[in-house]
Amino acid sequence: MVGGSVPVYDEIILSTALMNKILTFNSISGILTCQAGCVLENLSLYLEERDYIMPLDLGAKGSCQIGGNVATNAGGLRLLRYGSLRWDCEKCEMVLADGQVLDCLATLRKDNTGYDLKQLFIGSEGTLGVITAVSILCPRKPKSVNVVFLGCETFEQLLKTFQLCRGMLGEILSAFEFLDSECMRLLNTHLKLPNPISECPFYVVIETSGSDPTHDGEKLHNFLEEAMTSSLVTDGTVATEDTKIKALWSMRERVTEALTHDGFTYKYDISLPVERIYQLVTDMREHLGDRAKSVVGYGHVGDGNLHLNITSPAKDPSLLAAIEPFVYEWTASCQGSISAEHGLGLKKRNYIYYSKSSQAVALMGDIKAMLDPKGILNPYKTLPDNMK
Ligand code: LAC
Ligand code: ZN
Repeated sequence: MVGGSVPVYDEIILSTALMNKILTFNSISGILTCQAGCVLENLSLYLEERDYIMPLDLGAKGSCQIGGNVATNAGGLRLLRYGSLRWDCEKCEMVLADGQVLDCLATLRKDNTGYDLKQLFIGSEGTLGVITAVSILCPRKPKSVNVVFLGCETFEQLLKTFQLCRGMLGEILSAFEFLDSECMRLLNTHLKLPNPISECPFYVVIETSGSDPTHDGEKLHNFLEEAMTSSLVTDGTVATEDTKIKALWSMRERVTEALTHDGFTYKYDISLPVERIYQLVTDMREHLGDRAKSVVGYGHVGDGNLHLNITSPAKDPSLLAAIEPFVYEWTASCQGSISAEHGLGLKKRNYIYYSKSSQAVALMGDIKAMLDPKGILNPYKTLPDNMK
């Protein structure tokens, strides 16, 4: 997405795939300590057998590794409920540029002794050190999970549904995600995934996770009744059983995959005040006219995070010139972030100034120079050209 893990010129590629051991799991605290190469889905399966879950979940779970998740501070589908890895990652073991191993793996929930150094490495995209092991605080596996797939006529109604949902579902709400009808068209066309409800301009995936199926079911029922009678949603379907839950989730999780079949894709991962997120898609459509093949919007409504994707039959420099800097200027005008969860990598690093002050970027450069004076750790990434 941003080319954070892609070599550019002369790099040595380092794989942690064989460092895939689970080191310890404490079933009282819920703290899991494992090596960096553990695949996220394998960790989830290990924990589920022990009545716990990973606090993060994302479409790439079958291949992504926990070290990379932490190094990029990956967001995903459960952030609304469990927060980011900055909170869930208790400790890290890092290898520094000079070969020192910085072991901060003691698994205490609270430790306020000076600077929290691991925070520098979480989200540093491998530019300050190599994460080799992590400790993650894991939540208990919910006893009751429901997934609802709903359709809304307008984005405004979708936002009202979100508000209603927060009020009525409260502590059991664990995800609120959306996709637009263009995403649905791509899922139908390229992946042959049928729409589980009738055609609507917007679709929502809501997940509840709680400890009492009767209590959760009642809350969900009341919410759905209210959403339907007040005409906020026009159609919907509910899943309580595993296969249907997975099928509904795949409508949201597989949009990225559907896009890869639509052509060359220009991808943006934007953070905005939640009430503004779809305006960017509408404005971009109008701005590009028929120059783009598809302009689609989906993402994490609960986190104010839009995934804006624009496809074209082939790489098209004139289309790119129409998208950028328009998209960044639009975002900056709302004090948004040009990278909500995917980092800066190679592709977005020079746009950092749209989201961070030059003072802040200069301090990042100082930290990089101190920890990696020879610039050997993931070079050409994250920091802008003038300070790589
Ligand atoms: C998603 C990825 C693109 O949310 O972050 O599907
Ligand atoms: Zn995402």
